[in-house]
Amino acid sequence: MTQEINEVLRLSEYVQAAKLKGKTVGFIPTMGALHEGHLAIVRQARQENNVTVVSIYVNERQFNHAEDFVKYPRNRERDVHLLQEEGVDVVYFPQTEQLFTPENLPVNFSLKGLEDVLEGAARPGHFKGVVEVVHALFLHVQPTKAYFGLKDFQQVTILRKMVKELNLPVDLVAVPTVRAENGLALSSRNQRLSECEQNEALVLIQTLSFLKQHYGKIPMKELLDQARTNIHQSPLKLDYLEIIDLETLISLAEVQPQALACVAAFCGEVRLIDNMLLIAQ
Ligand code: PAF
Repeated sequence: MTQEINEVLRLSEYVQAAKLKGKTVGFIPTMGALHEGHLAIVRQARQENNVTVVSIYVNERQFNHAEDFVKYPRNRERDVHLLQEEGVDVVYFPQTEQLFTPENLPVNFSLKGLEDVLEGAARPGHFKGVVEVVHALFLHVQPTKAYFGLKDFQQVTILRKMVKELNLPVDLVAVPTVRAENGLALSSRNQRLSECEQNEALVLIQTLSFLKQHYGKIPMKELLDQARTNIHQSPLKLDYLEIIDLETLISLAEVQPQALACVAAFCGEVRLIDNMLLIAQ
């Protein structure tokens, strides 16, 4: 039976009781508007843990525009129903006043510039907001393992850094991106795309696939020029397209054995991101 919990004390009691029985706790933080991508993560967490907790909290601190926060899709009943069907044990709806209290102020430590590039450059303060809420949620849930999707690669890198720097007792698990049959990376934001825009957005996966196919075979500058031109020629408005080092997130000028291609672009009013691992051949 899935339980809906809104109170941190009730959640703590539940988790502590489970842990006293030697159970492991898998945790998936979400902002709701669940899709197959989230459910794939939930399934993996359920396989790897005795108890699964999913939180649903639209975190205002990580939004750059009030309008984006207001427009973020919310559907509590539908989300809970989907999680019940997956056999999740607890759906946690944290309350803002319980997440950040005078005894539990938002965490603050240096991300050493990881937060200033790519998504961070486009969305100042975004990762600070993510780190603050995920840290607060970790304190509430006390998970054994926490799961994050690799579509938000930079988020995963930064949260790994947080776990390491603050020595948090949790294993962070990164789960591969789930795609629609046509290749579009699943995202809650896709709900805001018209059918026509959903087709236009396919230029992202096409461009990433082009990069994967030609990485290491064409000089880097030429490869990036061709890929960027491809997006410029589409209806999408390119924000950035970079090939980066997997650990430092720094843009590469030369080919190295492994790298990540990452892209962000506006499709109509909706900002989409995607990425793909590149292996030089
Ligand atoms: O990836 C997300 O949905 C959010 O950034 C997260 C991790 C739930 C924090 O609000």
